[in-house]
Amino acid sequence: MESIKQEGYKDLIDYNSLPEHIAVIMDGNGRWAKKQGKPRVFGHKNGVKAVREATEACAEIGVKYLTLYAFSTENWSRPSFEVTALMELLVLTIGREVKTLQKNNIRLNAIGNLNSLPAKTRAELLKAIELTKNNTRMTLTLALSYGAREEIFEAFLKMAQDLQNEKISLQDLKPESVKNYLQTHQIPDPELLIRTSGECRVSNFLLWQIAYTEFIFTDKLWPEIEKEDIYSFIYQYQQRERRFGKTSEQINS
Ligand code: FPP
Repeated sequence: MESIKQEGYKDLIDYNSLPEHIAVIMDGNGRWAKKQGKPRVFGHKNGVKAVREATEACAEIGVKYLTLYAFSTENWSRPSFEVTALMELLVLTIGREVKTLQKNNIRLNAIGNLNSLPAKTRAELLKAIELTKNNTRMTLTLALSYGAREEIFEAFLKMAQDLQNEKISLQDLKPESVKNYLQTHQIPDPELLIRTSGECRVSNFLLWQIAYTEFIFTDKLWPEIEKEDIYSFIYQYQQRERRFGKTSEQINS
């Protein structure tokens, strides 16, 4: 579908059925840099431009939540100079962009094991989260040192503690109760998940939350992503019929 129409997706979008929450697995920074004969970190630096494009595109059209997988629990096992460079890039980017977030009424949020981040990265992040906490146009969530299995495991531990302390009873627990214990408890589940770079897997991202999410896998590498791509993904999403286990006839009646 991407090759049929290159321009103008913004005008094709149905603004009455926008996804409320879009989640993105930003992948391909390293391969993009390699294609230019540059070190991997060059790819991450250019990935920041794509973060800006995606954030602006979503905010401009009225998407309420954008969640970006910026660093997974597994990413800690990358070469230490790359991890350090990524953490420094985060500090620099957050520091540089916080004014723009503020000006555009965008709230910054983070999920993941933030305690495992270097002190400087965590401090810069928490400062920006605090500064933007009352913004209402869109919530931009960064998944940092994030792993969905860890998140679900933590949720079960908290639930077990609440049972033990008799804050809740076993009879009260329902499948929907799990959401209250997840780090994303204040965020609706994403209707759309985008992954760049041609990889078709979920890589431990939002496993509980994506039960009914529509997936779009694109061959584009993350630093190549522009606003128009985001509009095209939203348009593609809107061409799908979300049946939630029902039949097409039931949905359309
Ligand atoms: C995946 O590409 C990308 C990452 C692990 C890091 C994403 C970080 C950024 C876009 C920069 C900073 C982000 C914010 C939110 C300010 P890869 O390195 O796995 O690429 P490869 O698969 O081609 O090796």
